[in-house]
Amino acid sequence: MVSYQKMTYYYIMIVRNFVVFEGLDGTGTTTQLKELEKRFRNVNRPVHFTAEPTDRETGKIVRKVLSGSVAVEPETLARLFAADRGEHMYGTDGILSHLESGKAVFTDRYVFSSLAYQSLSCDPLLVKTLNEPFPLPELLFFFDIDPELAMTRVHTRGAGKEIFETTEFQQRVRDKYREILDHYGTTEPGMTIVRINAAESIETITENIWSLVENLPKL
Ligand code: TYD
Repeated sequence: MVSYQKMTYYYIMIVRNFVVFEGLDGTGTTTQLKELEKRFRNVNRPVHFTAEPTDRETGKIVRKVLSGSVAVEPETLARLFAADRGEHMYGTDGILSHLESGKAVFTDRYVFSSLAYQSLSCDPLLVKTLNEPFPLPELLFFFDIDPELAMTRVHTRGAGKEIFETTEFQQRVRDKYREILDHYGTTEPGMTIVRINAAESIETITENIWSLVENLPKL
């Protein structure tokens, strides 16, 4: 059991063997993570793959808001994402427990999603404060793509439409991501940020990422 006191300890710390995938909706992060998981399984490496919103009860509430079946204030949604992240990082079987057992952890979305998406609909200071208790990854892949192409992919995928899935909103999310990543690029040199051109083929992207992560976890 990891106590919440650890949150202070890990405050803006950069954590080894922790890798985050971020990007607009429809950029292919989930596809890439599945591919990497297969490769790691083939070489029998200790890794853990996970995603936000989680499958936990906290994540289920978030999903209901995203699908439009439950309506809450934007500030409440920001708090729900942070609560889900708290469970994801510090809860039973959470990211921290996997890292502490010596695995590399890969997550599909993390604090940067909240900073990019929620800052557009509520006070950025609230979003920043809610996300301060979370450590940073040592490696961040940002999947970049033209928002129009990303939305075409989302709509041909055919899943139920979520509240953020419009080209106009995604354009604003992209601008926000770029601003946030520029900021971290200068203030947190220990966190490596890799921009992925998400318009490239699945295979090209996998090879590129694999070459950077295949030796994880580092001792
Ligand atoms: P995701 O699961 O990546 O999308 P999909 O269901 O299409 O696979 O993420 C769900 C949505 O939640 C996506 O629009 C991004 C948004 N999101 C936030 O707004 N803030 C957050 O903190 C997170 C983790 C996701």
